[in-house]
Amino acid sequence: MKILVVGSGGREHALAWKLAQSERVQMVYVAPGNGGTARDARLVNVNITDLHELANFVEQEHIGLTVVGPEVPLAAGIVNLFRARGLKIFGPTREAAQLESSKDFAKAFMHRHGIPTAKYQTFSDVAQAHDYVNANGAPIVIKADGLAAGKGVVVALTLDEAHQAIDDMLADNRFGDAGARIVIEEFLAGEEASFIVMCDGKNVLPLATSQDHKRLKDNDQGPNTGGMGAYSPAPIVTPSMHARVMREIINPTIAGMAKDGIVFTGFLYAGLMIDAQGNPRTLEFNCRMGDPETQPIMSRLKTDLLGVMEHAVNGTLDQVELEWDRRTAVGVVLAAEGYPETPKKGAVIDGIPAETPEAVTFHAGTADVGGQLQVTGGRVLCVVGLGDSVKLAQKQAYEAVDQISFEGMQCRRDIGWRGLKH
Ligand SMILES: Nc1ncnc2c1ncn2[C@@H]1O[C@H](COP(=O)(O)OP(=O)(O)O)[C@@H](O)[C@H]1O
Ligand SMILES: [Mg+2]
Repeated sequence: MKILVVGSGGREHALAWKLAQSERVQMVYVAPGNGGTARDARLVNVNITDLHELANFVEQEHIGLTVVGPEVPLAAGIVNLFRARGLKIFGPTREAAQLESSKDFAKAFMHRHGIPTAKYQTFSDVAQAHDYVNANGAPIVIKADGLAAGKGVVVALTLDEAHQAIDDMLADNRFGDAGARIVIEEFLAGEEASFIVMCDGKNVLPLATSQDHKRLKDNDQGPNTGGMGAYSPAPIVTPSMHARVMREIINPTIAGMAKDGIVFTGFLYAGLMIDAQGNPRTLEFNCRMGDPETQPIMSRLKTDLLGVMEHAVNGTLDQVELEWDRRTAVGVVLAAEGYPETPKKGAVIDGIPAETPEAVTFHAGTADVGGQLQVTGGRVLCVVGLGDSVKLAQKQAYEAVDQISFEGMQCRRDIGWRGLKH
């Protein structure tokens, strides 16, 4: 079978890499892909981003299944379009993707269905937003309603920061339409975890747990980023926590969507905040896999991913039991100089080691320019190491990281630190 993976990041490289391992996969196309997918002999980049043109390509090439990585084509309705043309695709419809594409939709949904989350209110009026913040005090969290590529949330520790964020989003239109409405919510303290499941419309299949590292610098210092690394499994999600999240968050979400007339298919990602008493609350939903969580998760998946995807599009995920590598996987992101504010492009990348059973490098912001690998985006590579403990997985990852070089390369040296303390 031929497969199409839509997207160009590290998440898509990891999905395509895993799909290509299936004996029944003849070819994996990646649209548009990156320098790593270009170099992998089992993967073929296709330079198409328009959704109608992608559907045409899938028809012409007789591609049997499409898997979508990023949120933007999902929110634009790629799944609705492909299904209307009779093409098999795994992902949520435009309507289902509102759980991610509108934070107001997600909050109202959680409120309606009793899913634990921070208290909130939605505003489009600047003065009312300022009044609400004055009445509630800091710390407080200000979120642009729409998709903002991970840059639309301000965790304001002071009232000044909160007022500034409101002005940026509502008065100065910093995020355009995405920030024309804002959600202001209660600050939640605790430890975050990523809880990702696959849904086929009826059945829910949880993937391995993981934890992301959002801040640029070691010890969770510096500005927020798209994610500087992730590891799996996340020990904070104990078996009893797992059961509780399924019961209190995931199952009510799928059932609530159905009650509201929306069948949820695709990956569902609940971003959790687990407080000191061990109560999980939902910070947000994503309707796709996380990046970089996908890279360590796919590195641990032993089950044939094509088979799982086929069950997912056929509504038979109840027949699947996933097998995971018992080792821990630690994924370290290597970012460009100036990331996240102003990533510098063009640096030449050297020294990426060949894949081994203990370490694999996934590409994100790279391009193969006449045989030379160059930096083209903020997050450049994600190096995954596997080991019998977090410490051993870190050792494998950083041994590989230390062979790689490009001008201005930034990376954290402590990915997995929360896993060490459990
Ligand atoms: N209510 C909250 N309390 C504390 N921190 C929060 C809260 N909501 C979000 N955050 C922090 O901000 C980050 C980004 O928020 P999130 O809702 O996941 O939006 P997005 O991923 O779309 O930027 C979270 O990973 C978390 O660290
Ligand atoms: Mg998030």
